[in-house]
Amino acid sequence: MPHAALKAPQQEDCISPRNFMRLATFIQSETGIKMPHNKLTMLEGRLRRRVRATGVADLNTYCEFLFDAKFGRDENVHLINAVTTNKTDFFREPRHFDYLTQTILPELKAKASRRIRVWSAACSTGAEPYTLAMLLDDFADKHHGPDYGILATDLDTQVLEIARRGIYPAELIQPVPERLRARYVMQPLEKTSSDVRIVPSLRAAVGYARLNLMDDNYPVGEPMDIIFCRNVLIYFDKQTQEQVVSKLCGKLRVGGWLVLGHSESIAGMTLPVEQVCNTVFKRI
Ligand SMILES: C[S@@+](CC[C@H](N)C(=O)[O-])C[C@H]1O[C@@H](n2cnc3c(N)ncnc32)[C@H](O)[C@@H]1O
Repeated sequence: MPHAALKAPQQEDCISPRNFMRLATFIQSETGIKMPHNKLTMLEGRLRRRVRATGVADLNTYCEFLFDAKFGRDENVHLINAVTTNKTDFFREPRHFDYLTQTILPELKAKASRRIRVWSAACSTGAEPYTLAMLLDDFADKHHGPDYGILATDLDTQVLEIARRGIYPAELIQPVPERLRARYVMQPLEKTSSDVRIVPSLRAAVGYARLNLMDDNYPVGEPMDIIFCRNVLIYFDKQTQEQVVSKLCGKLRVGGWLVLGHSESIAGMTLPVEQVCNTVFKRI
């Protein structure tokens, strides 16, 4: 028998039940993200990268480090980046963008002579705000306005960095219609790279900032005309969802639109909105 086969199998590095409880409680109170027990393996997988990055011995030592009042604070941001799920796409859930161009923008154009404000809350790596920017820019160009500004926020600092750079593998841009791609996406500068970049004028139209939807106040300035907050409420419990949507409504102009993800529901919540389309709501 080969020597290796005689070795006892390596003990798998696992999070203890006590540390899982501490982590789950901490993650939910900081980010709103629920961490039921069936997420344990996923959490272990993601935190192993932090174990390697910090150089601690194993997952449970990492937890001690994290919860240490003196050293843990700087690690929180990395923990949070590790636990967020950032799946996104250009033109994701395209019916929302049809509604934007066919209904919302014509209505705003007819009513508002001022600059309109759009917020992509939980913007991930930027596909959503750049999709919005392409459509707003294209509409404004064709119809001589309205002028617009987009605020894009997320809790995860890593995705915000990617979004600010606006560089993506070419295949990610595939859902962008050809005409908009030709106008708003630059071809790779180097022959060896297939990465493409959003044009500078569009990047300049989107302001990025870190914002935690769990915070008591959202310091976003003047009320918004449109808020996209899609595919993040699903990670929160019902009570947190209602609190977040209520705070979003507080930042929405009366008559403004709130767009949630297709699988998100506000049924049973007491909120100052009426539904105008599938998961699109108008502030009343
Ligand atoms: C699945 S992505 C959705 C991205 C985009 N809205 C879309 O629909 O394609 C969810 C995003 O929510 C962010 N997120 C999670 N919890 C958050 C919180 N408490 N505050 C702000 N953003 C949060 C994550 O970092 C992640 O980038």
